[in-house]
Amino acid sequence: MLRALLISLSKAEWAKHLVTRWQVAWRVASRFIAGETLEEATRVIRVLNEAGLNATVDHLGEHTTDVVEAQRATEATLVSLEEIERQHLRANVSVKLSAIGLTVDPVLCRQNLERIVVRARELGNFVRVDMEDSSLVDATLELVHWCHDQGYTNVGVAIQSYLYRSEQDTRHLVSRRVPIRLVKGAYKEPPEIAYPHKRDVDASFDRLTDILLQGVQEAGIPQISEDGRFPPIPAIATHDEARIRYAQERARHLGLPNTALEFQMLYGIRRDLQQELVRAGYPVRVYVPYGTHWYPYFMRRLAERPANLWFFISNFFRR
Ligand code: FDA
Repeated sequence: MLRALLISLSKAEWAKHLVTRWQVAWRVASRFIAGETLEEATRVIRVLNEAGLNATVDHLGEHTTDVVEAQRATEATLVSLEEIERQHLRANVSVKLSAIGLTVDPVLCRQNLERIVVRARELGNFVRVDMEDSSLVDATLELVHWCHDQGYTNVGVAIQSYLYRSEQDTRHLVSRRVPIRLVKGAYKEPPEIAYPHKRDVDASFDRLTDILLQGVQEAGIPQISEDGRFPPIPAIATHDEARIRYAQERARHLGLPNTALEFQMLYGIRRDLQQELVRAGYPVRVYVPYGTHWYPYFMRRLAERPANLWFFISNFFRR
């Protein structure tokens, strides 16, 4: 109930105006967001890199409603790529297609994605396409497959274990060697298309982990690039220790080395676990979001964990 309410509020303009006016909201949000500028984000990434963690940087924004905004979001990602290169950061980029025009004009979105992917390829870098709500899954997968049809193999995509369709999508992507980031899913979806219960989402996550690891075993183990930017290996993106242990055990059972998969977590969540996995010899990547459009991202993080909401409320009364 609370989760559904917070996710609905993440899309409400009136709630956005109300929440982002409060200084205290930013104080709490900044636990999950690296800053409002790229400079702040790269400072965070340098610290992560020094601690042995790779990063993926996301210029926050989604559901842009006009061409100018979509172009601006595209430029922001291109600038991130240049900064990663200039500062020799161990980082790649994550992109939401609705930020670069998917809901305005799919052709424009494809052109913007191609600009990003081409520049990333020139720089030896990698682009991860985030998965958004279910209304955009078909269009997102279509564009990712299109990239691979064009030979842009430096593109991967996120797959959500809460969707019934994900097993089929995963098998298709694995057969084409499209790198996958496996997540549980952060949006509110109806029971007709998504598992309503956590235990089923978790079981699906484990099944999809199996498919990804078997894919690696059958196709041969690809190598993460020396600079930590290009990970053609499966990414298990969760803070759920049971899911992580499951992936570790399955990989071991299949005789895969620790470097055959990477774990991914969000900035500001389970730093202890991130470090533990690095110490155990696994590649770990932290998702580093930055920018001024932080409201919907922040609301989804509140929705994931009620304790975050109480933290927010207690800060509000302490201000
Ligand atoms: P679960 O929600 O079961 O949480 C397990 C444990 O993790 C909790 O008990 C708690 O300890 C900790 N935890 C989880 N969320 C927390 C929070 N917000 N604050 C504090 N602690 C928290 N989704 C999507 O739909 N499309 C996408 O492209 C992506 N991309 C993405 C990239 C990366 C790197 C990650 C880690 C996640 C995503 N997600 C995503 C989000 C994902 O779908 C999911 O909503 C969150 O990861 C939370 O689910 P967990 O897997 O952590 O499990």
